[in-house]
Amino acid sequence: MQLLVWEDRFSVGIREFDQHHKILFEMINSLIIAKEETSGPNVIKNTLEQLHLYTIFHFTAEEAMMKHFEFEGLDDHIEEHQVLLKKVEDYQTKIADSEEISIDEVLNFVAGWVLDHTLGIDQLYGPFLSHRTG
Ligand SMILES: [Fe+2]
Repeated sequence: MQLLVWEDRFSVGIREFDQHHKILFEMINSLIIAKEETSGPNVIKNTLEQLHLYTIFHFTAEEAMMKHFEFEGLDDHIEEHQVLLKKVEDYQTKIADSEEISIDEVLNFVAGWVLDHTLGIDQLYGPFLSHRTG
């Protein structure tokens, strides 16, 4: 898998959240590199742990901002966030249970979700929030 490269089209128009999204890209890139270096399950486990904590932090920040400005797409947005969290937690449970886990599957899911989400539903709050937050 190719490393993710940030482009302007990913921008949601709010610097703080663009910064978060760039960090998510970097986390996915670490996973791609870990895979290429055929790192052991511990590296994958740690990267997933970081990703899990960071997405909770980031989703909480986005949701709080949407709530604060009474953005009407909030519920749909929370649902999408939950899909990612649930899946990452499933992967973590599998690892904890010493089940075989495919790094390709994890990467395809997580990278696909982050790209779709950033280019999709995240773009809806951008124009709404950016001129309220200045
Ligand atoms: Fe989001």
